[in-house]
Amino acid sequence: MCGIVGYIGHREAYPVIIKGLKRLEYRGYDSAGVVLYDGTDLKLSKTKGKVSDLEARAEKEISLNGSIGIGHTRWATHGVPNDVNSHPHVSNSGNLVIVHNGIIENYEPLKKELIKRGYVFHSDTDTEVLVNLIEEVKKQDNLKLGKAVQVALNQVVGAYAIAVFDKERPNEIVAARLGSPLAIGVGKDEFFVASDASPFIEYTSNAIYLEDEEMAIIRLHKPLKIRKIKDDTLVDPYIQELQMNLEQIEKGGYDHFMLKEIYEQPSVIKDTYRGRLHANEGLIKMAGIEDNLQKFLNADRILIIACGTSWHAGLVAEYIFEEFARIPVEVEYASEFRYRNPIVRPTDVVIAISQSGETADTLAAIKLAKEQGAFVFGVCNVVGSSISRETHAGAYTHAGPEIGVASTKAFTTQITVLTLIALRLAQAKGTMNNSDFHRYLQELELIPEKVAEALETNLVAQTIAAVYKDAPNALYLGRGYNFPVALEGALKLKEISYIHAEGYPAAEMKHGPIALIDESMPVFIIAPQQEHYDKIVSNIQEIKSRSGKIIAVVTKGDTQVKALADHVIEIPATSDALSPLLTTIPLQLLSYHIAVMRECNVDQPRNLAKSVTVE
Ligand code: F6R
Repeated sequence: MCGIVGYIGHREAYPVIIKGLKRLEYRGYDSAGVVLYDGTDLKLSKTKGKVSDLEARAEKEISLNGSIGIGHTRWATHGVPNDVNSHPHVSNSGNLVIVHNGIIENYEPLKKELIKRGYVFHSDTDTEVLVNLIEEVKKQDNLKLGKAVQVALNQVVGAYAIAVFDKERPNEIVAARLGSPLAIGVGKDEFFVASDASPFIEYTSNAIYLEDEEMAIIRLHKPLKIRKIKDDTLVDPYIQELQMNLEQIEKGGYDHFMLKEIYEQPSVIKDTYRGRLHANEGLIKMAGIEDNLQKFLNADRILIIACGTSWHAGLVAEYIFEEFARIPVEVEYASEFRYRNPIVRPTDVVIAISQSGETADTLAAIKLAKEQGAFVFGVCNVVGSSISRETHAGAYTHAGPEIGVASTKAFTTQITVLTLIALRLAQAKGTMNNSDFHRYLQELELIPEKVAEALETNLVAQTIAAVYKDAPNALYLGRGYNFPVALEGALKLKEISYIHAEGYPAAEMKHGPIALIDESMPVFIIAPQQEHYDKIVSNIQEIKSRSGKIIAVVTKGDTQVKALADHVIEIPATSDALSPLLTTIPLQLLSYHIAVMRECNVDQPRNLAKSVTVE
């Protein structure tokens, strides 16, 4: 979703902001803008389109000098994506400028009131209302900027991360958050404000993550102040040393972040289990689980809440937890859960899965589950994210920054963490015998090697992609552990190549989707040699007899499916429960190549955002 970058210090602000906005492009956006103060006046440039469009425009229409500025990438919520609705927004006096991520829900009554007082609005945005509200409050009570922002925010209902400055006091930026992330980079005689740390990592590794309902008053050569927005309490700034480095957030020779991230999977899966999986000793050590083991063991059920790809990882986990640990599991879309008056009991353990740790619906579902007394465990990738802080305990996936909008390594590392948890619970509950437990530990340890082997199917995937790149529709089928992989395969294809795709349990095909099958329908079938293999072979026969085109992901050495399918992609053998970690790889590669061949924007697909911070 929207991205914020602000700078105040001794450098030229413009290059810092533009580079920073480019680093935030992965979040998804439809317009971009920047405002600088050059010592005499505000210099504002904004446009619908990409940051590169903004650069082209800004370089023509404004002077690019100034050591204070704020920039923004906007993902439209109120008002269509166009130049006028783009941020930054300027107050009526022309003094205050703001960038905002989030939604001000009560903007209409506030706007009406401001219009009555003579304010004029140029855009359809809630953000323009907020900057004028701050101006009005400031003027009425002759307040300093920080105080005016605080008073205004106390009148606002909704979610926000904002950065504001006043051209009359160009040595100060005020930033605040509620429900949308905001980090402050603390350098020597300079400060950065950004939606995440990637825009400032090359300048400083010292960061402060604002908590919800906190605001920061950032002044040059003065101590940074953080206050609670509601009651004005001063908060001691907690400066963290970031572990992230620049290399991790660059493409490293790959054409796209998505491809880089697909190829990172062998190493990041290893990072995920490093220090946790001890195959030789027959041990799993996860602090978050050990500290709360009794809660898991006493749980009447596990409720998994997530969205999108993370929800698919949750579905895989449902199969694994029930099989290994014999604990009933329900998997819920966070967006449905939070609004359907769900029954949550104190004896439930809730697992929230989120790559970004910022997904608004997941965050709200966590709060709801906590209110109802459940113990909530987070599986997140982004360290220090809102979800990782809102949950009672958790386990990080350690996948490193995922920049491509389409989740790849997040999915496989989430499954890795969830498998480790399920195995530990199975061991503690005695629901798995010792030899199976040891076998799984050993197999899991071999997964990175096997993922690397699965990545060798890249050329085959590319060849198959060339055959089906123009298909208008596609069907993905899988059974058991690989049913969620079918859903994930379909999601990957539709989100980056815009081909309509559906994932189904293979056996459900006869209850509807079979009607779609003809010679123009590619059917991607996940058919490794596992339980019910013969059933999936029958499904393949049914498709073949209706002239569907069959692209099958099979276990190396398979002969039966090979004889029926139009194309096969071979992956190494593993146990059924771990197979999603391998079967998903060729599907990621297929989607990637199809999208590239269709000339789609692989890393930033239209309308999508990496971090969905609005509901
Ligand atoms: C799909 C994708 C999305 C996310 C979803 C949840 O490739 O990336 O479906 O999985 O928006 O995001 P997180 O995991 O950050 O909560």
